[in-house]
Amino acid sequence: MEASLPILQPLGPVTGPVPTTLLTSGDAFADSVLKHRAVAMPRVDWNEQVARETAHLYERVRNVVPSVEWPFFAPYVKAINALKKERNAVILAHNYQTPEIFHCVADFVGDSLQLAREATKVDADVIVQCGVHFMAETSKILNPDKVVLIPDGEAGCSLASSITGADVRRLRERFPGVPVAAYVNTSAEVKAEVDICCTSSNALQVVESLPGDTVIFVPDQYLARYVASQTTKKIISWKGACEVHERFTADELRVYRDSDPSIRIIAHPECPPDVIEEADFTGSTAHMIDWLRNHRPQRVIMVTECSMADNVQAELPAIEFVRPCNLCPHMKRITLPKILDSLVFMKEEVIIDPLIAARARSAVERMMKVRG
Ligand code: 13P
Ligand code: SF4
Repeated sequence: MEASLPILQPLGPVTGPVPTTLLTSGDAFADSVLKHRAVAMPRVDWNEQVARETAHLYERVRNVVPSVEWPFFAPYVKAINALKKERNAVILAHNYQTPEIFHCVADFVGDSLQLAREATKVDADVIVQCGVHFMAETSKILNPDKVVLIPDGEAGCSLASSITGADVRRLRERFPGVPVAAYVNTSAEVKAEVDICCTSSNALQVVESLPGDTVIFVPDQYLARYVASQTTKKIISWKGACEVHERFTADELRVYRDSDPSIRIIAHPECPPDVIEEADFTGSTAHMIDWLRNHRPQRVIMVTECSMADNVQAELPAIEFVRPCNLCPHMKRITLPKILDSLVFMKEEVIIDPLIAARARSAVERMMKVRG
């Protein structure tokens, strides 16, 4: 039975600027350039040699990247892969990155939990995070001594910007003694105020690992509802939402289902409850991919960010993906030219106040110890 769910009004702004803990100031940028050896901007011309040297990578994406687009991508792919070696850098890419990034330059790909786990194992001097700023912050929190770069520091997230550290302190005052779990889609400043983090892969296990019968769960109201539907704990939630997943409607899914009753629908738990109700399976982006690998449906609707269908289509070409296409504008800020700039100019370096980072690390590491 679903626990009662008081939905609080956000006390802070729902949208807003990227937290200053992330952005590189002009001085820090100058420091960063001075600290790292200067490298020349590689040429990005398309020619026969580039075509030959990148042909094996094009094979990975040929069913999702049209051949007319490859001459634009290939010179960047070649230059980025060469520069990664020179800088001793790795690229971590989220499942929502576009296929030419996901399949052709990334060293590790996955959902938020997999990327956080990879970040603890990285044996490189530099991490380039192809995702959004809270993901880059998580990598920095777990690797305080490494250089973490994000190719576009404005790549935000409507969930992360819906809550501040001060909001969490006010919640604690209002509900004294109640443990606080934060979705990783939060700033380092918020992570520093909470007891534990979670991702959409382990949210239920994290909530159940906490003492007492009530948990404050921020900031995603829909993920909170989804968890509440599966646990006997009472969940106090926040009114944040993902601007991509909240746009899907149950009505549009019913239209697809009515036109083809054999179609499978799989949804991310950031979707509203009536959308989840229509789905045959609900799970994190990694769990959705596992479900597709195991079930191999003929036709599927993935109710999540649109690029993920391209990435999985490249791996599982026999599945037909029906796309009610919602793109995350923040994820789409990351492009091959910006990744190349990032490696050439060592920008934008993620800087987090060490005291905030240390407190945030406890919440992230506590999450890593929860099985799930
Ligand atoms: P996961 O990949 O962890 O399921 O998260 C989805 C998401 O919206 C990340 O921004
Ligand atoms: Fe944030 Fe939603 Fe974009 Fe994920 S898809 S980064 S939750 S806005």
